[in-house]
Amino acid sequence: MLVQRKPDLTYADVTPKRLYMGRRNFLLGLLATSGAVAGWRKLPEWLAGRGTGSVPVPLEGVVKWPGSTSEPETPIEKTTHWNNFYEFGTDKTDPAVNARNFQVSPWSISVEGEVAKPRTFTMEEILKLAPLEERIYRHRCVEAWSIVVPWIGFPLNVLAKLVEPTSKARFVAFQSFYDSRQMLSSGQAGIEFPYVEGLRLDEALHPLALLCVGMYGETLPNQDGAPVRMVIPWKYGFKSIKSIVKIRFVKYQPQTSWNLENPREYGFYSNVNPHVDHPRWSQATERRIGPGLGLFNRRIPTLMFNGYGDQVASMYAGMDLRKYF
Ligand code: MTE
Repeated sequence: MLVQRKPDLTYADVTPKRLYMGRRNFLLGLLATSGAVAGWRKLPEWLAGRGTGSVPVPLEGVVKWPGSTSEPETPIEKTTHWNNFYEFGTDKTDPAVNARNFQVSPWSISVEGEVAKPRTFTMEEILKLAPLEERIYRHRCVEAWSIVVPWIGFPLNVLAKLVEPTSKARFVAFQSFYDSRQMLSSGQAGIEFPYVEGLRLDEALHPLALLCVGMYGETLPNQDGAPVRMVIPWKYGFKSIKSIVKIRFVKYQPQTSWNLENPREYGFYSNVNPHVDHPRWSQATERRIGPGLGLFNRRIPTLMFNGYGDQVASMYAGMDLRKYF
């Protein structure tokens, strides 16, 4: 009797055609070098540390978050091939090339400081802490550009609850992974490493502040902050720290990489604010990186708190947002 075997799953089987066709050319290159077809079967391998993490794999059981924007998504090939990740280069096209072999497995995050139950979470544990949600956020990325991205993750406050911050915790300090063998030196990049960021405790616990493990249905590509990063949609892109290894609850306002580098240009709060110009460019408008050709990106007015004012403005009531920029 002839037994017909079901073929292995391919990207085309598990990825919506719209996404699959859009990134086919990039993936063909990656798939050719990996010598494997990336299907759901690769997830355990990625978690077990045998893969490099350079080929994103589909995330299962992702639920749609009802607050997503309905604006057109920025195509994945644009989001992943023009961005900032200074550990892998200072040009916006560098991270996609230089982060290719970044070792993202095994991975863990140490959560410590002013907490009753300090704990180290492995990546496997993080993925199981809460249902993964797809949240389509508009996101202010580099300089006056913006993108619309289907991020995947869950609120950071889920993880925070497990470690029980004490009454002394007023801020949260984040630290990225750093390894001089895989990454630029601070001298080459022009900023201090490891990359550090910070939020006030109420900002970090806000339901919009996303602990992000994926985008466009899959685990994060290395250049976008694999395997775990923050996405804070009402703040400028640099607050969204990538490849996190340490989260520390602290009493005092922590240092942040761009504020250390240039305090005149980059404040601690960094809320999207069209009324406060960056010293070198206006913040009043932005160019949306959309599905079309870059030449025709039109300028659109930038919204206070990036359009998330209804949800977040009350956290800044009574603050002079020109002083606390
Ligand atoms: N995180 C680390 N570890 N290193 C970086 O250089 N760059 C920041 C932020 N997070 C950066 C980082 C800056 S300047 C920007 S604009 C965003 O990442 C870019 O994020 P994106 O790839 O989602 O556009």
